[in-house]
Amino acid sequence: MAPSGLFISFEGIDGCGKTTQTAWLADALERAGRQVVKTQEPGGTLIGRRLRDLLLTDGAAPRAPQTEALLFAADRAQHVAEVIRPALERGDIVVCDRFTDSTRAYQGGGRRLPSDFVETVIGVATGGLEPRLTFLLDLPADVARARLTQHPRRERAADRFETEEPAFYERVRAAFLDLARAHPARVRVLDAAQPPDAIHALVWNAVAARLSPPLPQASSLAP
Ligand code: TYD
Repeated sequence: MAPSGLFISFEGIDGCGKTTQTAWLADALERAGRQVVKTQEPGGTLIGRRLRDLLLTDGAAPRAPQTEALLFAADRAQHVAEVIRPALERGDIVVCDRFTDSTRAYQGGGRRLPSDFVETVIGVATGGLEPRLTFLLDLPADVARARLTQHPRRERAADRFETEEPAFYERVRAAFLDLARAHPARVRVLDAAQPPDAIHALVWNAVAARLSPPLPQASSLAP
């Protein structure tokens, strides 16, 4: 049976603000009375949180890019089976902080793994499931880096990806933009330099129009 819920993902390089937008959209949809599952990759399940520690903790992290891609795929396979598919089958709205495009952009663009390998591991993990709508929060790599430096994560040291060289992030950003060009119906590019509430209004209007019955086109629901 084809899942009847709506699957939405947020993507972008580290520091683009997608975690805030994911939370605001999920909250606004809940306030509008919709059933929402807010989740994230890596780490949307118990197994996934262990994999997340492996992937992002310096020292424990894999050095071979193929291993890295396979561990993100393992996280995703569990996440799809345990969280995303069941939610979509119930008819819920799934709002996910990163999904398949992160593997394409980081492991494909950033680590330069061949796209046939990347698409194979993605396909094994998802069985072909992709979001219906993806918001790409686009920001130049140096601006994103400055944001992370100015507002360091309070709860922990910068993770492994946040310490990559600037050229790595330029490749990741370019790969995200290539994906948006290749999938214009699914991927909406939003300028992440805008104020967060302006981004939220654009996100809200795009999502509200897709729901049935549709929700009002307004940002009166903004936090
Ligand atoms: P994220 O959860 O966005 O980080 P944080 O919670 O610290 O904001 O993502 C963690 C890192 O994992 C991020 O640098 C991107 C990377 N990543 C990949 O390289 N490939 C993937 O498939 C996914 C899902 C994430």
